[in-house]
Amino acid sequence: MIGVYDSGVGGLSVWKELVRLMPDQDYVYFSDAAYCPYGPKDPSFIIGRASAVTDFFLEKGCNLIVVACNTATAAAISWLRAHYDIPFVGMEPAIKPAILSSRSGVVGVLATAGTFKGRLYLSTLARFSGDVKVIERVGEGLVETVEKGILDGPEVEALVLRCIAPMLEAGADHIVLGCTHYPFLQPVIERLAGPSVKVVNPAPAVARQAKRLLKAAEPSRRKGSTEFCSSSEDLSVLLRLAGR
Ligand code: DGL
Repeated sequence: MIGVYDSGVGGLSVWKELVRLMPDQDYVYFSDAAYCPYGPKDPSFIIGRASAVTDFFLEKGCNLIVVACNTATAAAISWLRAHYDIPFVGMEPAIKPAILSSRSGVVGVLATAGTFKGRLYLSTLARFSGDVKVIERVGEGLVETVEKGILDGPEVEALVLRCIAPMLEAGADHIVLGCTHYPFLQPVIERLAGPSVKVVNPAPAVARQAKRLLKAAEPSRRKGSTEFCSSSEDLSVLLRLAGR
């Protein structure tokens, strides 16, 4: 059984790739909606939540946990790996492939404040940015609109444009989605950015990494099911975005 965890519905963008790649596996999806958003919160608080959710997954019998949240990965994955004897897959900031394939020499990254402060993001940036200009923007308001299930319309366009305009003005040819909520806004982002800008979603690569790790921890019986759980009582948006 694979546990998939996010602060809210965003991790569904990763869960969808996992199910596409491994449809026969059993999943438990946990949305920590009662504490969403994680972006502005203290890492020690997020470690506490990640630990509680991991205990929940272990009780369910999970043998692999996908931290389908960039902010929780930045704050908690080292701690989780040091404290639990179970494999964890975290989100990779996909800035490396974007930097390596940029022709304009300008790359935009949209993420939460917590992700931009993470050690993995900062070290990847220091290692690979070279001459490429990386323009970072916190996606103000984007997580909140996705949590409400509002994925398009004039207000969403205005929010998205405010975030990506500085990237477009600087000539970015890649926009990296550094938060798992943002792929739900990918059609709007692509429409506003235009065809010359490639929007990079790391979820498929994370799903492939989960598949590689799962080989080492083969489960015994599978049904191809997903159980959806949340720390909030209202699961309506979660189930709608999951297509249930
Ligand atoms: N989906 C999350 C991420 O990938 C967290 C968003 C939030 O709760 O602020 O960073």
